[in-house]
Amino acid sequence: MANLTDTAAWRALDAHFRSVSAVHMRDLFARDSGRFERFCVRTCGILLDYSKNRVTAETMRLLHALARERGVTERAQAMFSGAHINETEDRAVLHALLRDSRDSPVCDVGDVLRAGVESSLDSMERFSEAVRSGGWRGRTGQRITDVVNIGIGGSDLGPGMVCRALAPYADGPRTHFVSNIDGAHLTSTLECLDPARTLFVVASKTFTTMETMTNARAARRWIVDSLGEDAAVARHFVAASTNRAAVAEFGISPDSMFAFQDWVGGRYSLWSAIGLPIAIATGMERFRELLAGAHAMDLHFRDAPLDRNMPVTLALLGTWYVNFFGVETHAVLAYDQRLDRFAAHLQQLDMESNGKSVTLEGTTADYATGPIVWGEPGTNGQHAFFQLLHQGTRLVPADFIVAAHCDHTLADQHRLLVANCLAQSEALMLGKSAHEVRSELEASGDPTQSADSLVPHKVFDGNRPSSTLLLDRLDAATLGALIALYEHKVFVQGAIWNVNSFDQWGVELGKALATSIARELLDHGDGGLHDASTTGLIAEYRRLSH
Ligand code: F6P
Repeated sequence: MANLTDTAAWRALDAHFRSVSAVHMRDLFARDSGRFERFCVRTCGILLDYSKNRVTAETMRLLHALARERGVTERAQAMFSGAHINETEDRAVLHALLRDSRDSPVCDVGDVLRAGVESSLDSMERFSEAVRSGGWRGRTGQRITDVVNIGIGGSDLGPGMVCRALAPYADGPRTHFVSNIDGAHLTSTLECLDPARTLFVVASKTFTTMETMTNARAARRWIVDSLGEDAAVARHFVAASTNRAAVAEFGISPDSMFAFQDWVGGRYSLWSAIGLPIAIATGMERFRELLAGAHAMDLHFRDAPLDRNMPVTLALLGTWYVNFFGVETHAVLAYDQRLDRFAAHLQQLDMESNGKSVTLEGTTADYATGPIVWGEPGTNGQHAFFQLLHQGTRLVPADFIVAAHCDHTLADQHRLLVANCLAQSEALMLGKSAHEVRSELEASGDPTQSADSLVPHKVFDGNRPSSTLLLDRLDAATLGALIALYEHKVFVQGAIWNVNSFDQWGVELGKALATSIARELLDHGDGGLHDASTTGLIAEYRRLSH
């Protein structure tokens, strides 16, 4: 594939950038009363308003040309047809198949794969219903009241985020998520649980991950010690994995293993058996609604023209800022307490996927790729880091996410939440000029407010871009669509940047070093293999811990 910066579309965008980068969005709105409708996309219970971005119709036209030149649509077709687009791992990328429907299929794959997915869903349904109804009980005959998911990365963030987001719909056992190898995480979780009523889901695609296997072994000791026999493991442990042999070796029977396939990437796995805690907490019907919402977004992504395509739009806006404005970060500001883990989920989804500097051909990218993704739920962030968003030296594009309807009875508070969300994006865009500040100070009549010295501190430049995703309601289907929206956004950006969005070699080096350092911390092995800093820290740790 041609180098990105050598494409005609890139060159056109570069020239265009020079002519529009200084334009203020205030003026764009003033000039065009139809800007909101022009830069708005609606689908799957989500409205995307991207009018508060530093784009004109010409910018979008050129960005669409870039998407065409980079073969985004063709690459999506390749993904949906099961081609091995994860080339470095020689794997297909078929998480969309996990939520596909026979009536309106997105994936063009054989019947065997489709039947496998359906049978996995049926097993999840049987088991989750058994746990929820009390048909599945602990070793001592007690009902399961608490489910602890032990997993990390995609085997934790996705299902954990969804369980929190769908809390109002949860009518099954409580769910808990233990990920960190820090023993404090498992200990504090188990402290308030009754072993006789606790079920562990060991969630790991590989079933070799250090954190997960260490926590799972500790949890097994807790069950065996508390219930007095090894046989208790069979009633208190199930697994979600692709690795049958390792699951069996751990002592979990094949009947209690919920399998998925290697074509499901970790950060795309919440739709698979990794979603079991969601099904147990909210019921299989809700889980299927989640899948259906994601499927609707898959259809939209596949079929909508580029200029009405929500994931493509978000992706192109991100590319515009990363590659032409040179931004480093992207904020995700969900005005919804139930989405308090959404940014964490997106961090893995985006940064593990597109945090790459090597192209598919193995050359070094001479352009920026995936941004640093971060965020906190609103309104908390307003009282922490929004100062920098409004008046700092950096440009930070942001996505605001908010639902029109809430699932609690404090409707007035919800209106205030929405008001805050809309106010922030308006303030970022409009800003406040020196003239406006001066008039306000004069009108206040306060002599202590010395206009001249205060004015620069109170000026907001504005022209700070954001998109707003207005959800009808944060229900299972809309949540599914929202997650799939970001999955496809990341996909499109990966296609433009020509990186493999589906491998994660960058996490391997640290894992290998941790394994060898763990031995050295214990048995005084040779620290000489490390750099002087690491050797010194190992020695200090040994001294302090004895
Ligand atoms: O460390 C990265 C990673 O491989 C992620 O991609 C994955 O989601 C996570 O570790 C957990 O892996 P597993 O599900 O195999 O335990």
